[in-house]
Amino acid sequence: MIGLLDRVARPLLYALDPEDAHRLAIKLLQIAPLPPAGPDDGRLATRVFGLNFPNPIGIAAGFDKHGELPDALLRAGFGFVEVGTVTPLPQPGNPRPRLFRLDADQAVINRLGFNSQGADVVLRRLAARAKAGGIVGVIVGANKDAADRVADYVRLIERFATVASYVTVNISSPNTPGLRDMQQAGVLDDLLARVIDARERVTKNAGLTPVLLKIAPDLSLSDLDDLVGIARARRVDGMIVGNTTVTRPPGLRAVQSSEAGGLSGRPLLPLADRMLAETYVRVEGVFPLVGAGGIDSGASALGKIRAGASLIQIYSGLVFRGLRLVREIKATMLAALERDGSQIIADYVGSDAAAVTAEAWPA
Ligand SMILES: Cc1cc2nc3c(=O)[nH]c(=O)nc-3n(C[C@H](O)[C@H](O)[C@H](O)COP(=O)(O)O)c2cc1C
Repeated sequence: MIGLLDRVARPLLYALDPEDAHRLAIKLLQIAPLPPAGPDDGRLATRVFGLNFPNPIGIAAGFDKHGELPDALLRAGFGFVEVGTVTPLPQPGNPRPRLFRLDADQAVINRLGFNSQGADVVLRRLAARAKAGGIVGVIVGANKDAADRVADYVRLIERFATVASYVTVNISSPNTPGLRDMQQAGVLDDLLARVIDARERVTKNAGLTPVLLKIAPDLSLSDLDDLVGIARARRVDGMIVGNTTVTRPPGLRAVQSSEAGGLSGRPLLPLADRMLAETYVRVEGVFPLVGAGGIDSGASALGKIRAGASLIQIYSGLVFRGLRLVREIKATMLAALERDGSQIIADYVGSDAAAVTAEAWPA
């Protein structure tokens, strides 16, 4: 069924404006009678921040921004789904066009700017499917016009803790002016203190919901030092490394590469892997990392785990490879386990991190 969906739908989707194509892909997935993916091989299972993942492959934030199809995505074989970014109040995001496919580079540029249907709508959807199970995290962000951005995050943690398997604090989107400044030490310390405090307040009703932090791949290493120090001191449960980049790696060929916004997909892989490894060596195993950025094959997925990711997330790779990518990644992981005589995928986490940090800085 997934093969059929890929073969029939993708030529059609490619003919459309990328944002219309995304809407149509969501509709198709909602109506496609995807049978539940069979159980995963037990060697792909992994326990991370207190949750049991059937496999380590997640769909990254931004695909299901409004919580419309987490169950269809779980049925398609993902081990977890991250819904969002959700803002407290609905907001339209930036004017269109704001999403660009760079076919020649297997990349995407977006400047969506947190278009969100708002917390009320997403909460209702997630509450309605809560009993269906599966790991569904929610990533939250502040409204563009928020008078007090930290208060937005606090409120969203309180509200989503009951329906989300985990909640991620997004301070790394390049498309909300000033948002990434929240990664600076003073602001971040206050934000995390209040966010973790909010999580503790709702624990009685919601259980202990893991709180993650998603960072940009564009931080300097000294900023990363500070950031990891604060995340450790404030006891976050994990970090996602990372979001899209505002840099433009040399060699991009598509004319759309000059569009403003965050770049994702294949050209992001070297920088994303490097930042992940740099984060891994600084975190020293105190909390686990989720690796995102540029995965479009089994090899790049396994490379991400070796660079330090306990879990991985994909988005742009799906645009170019379709849902079969999920199956391919699982097959590559299982082949590696067979070859190496390993019992669990967690054996690979961070095995190459030190080596990656010793390489020349990616161009
Ligand atoms: C169209 C699009 C929308 C995105 N929206 C969000 C978002 O709302 N929140 C977020 O944290 N990341 C968002 N991202 C970033 C992805 O979650 C991911 O971190 C990034 O794309 C790198 O992974 P990839 O190279 O596999 O796409 C978006 C990415 C794309 C391509």
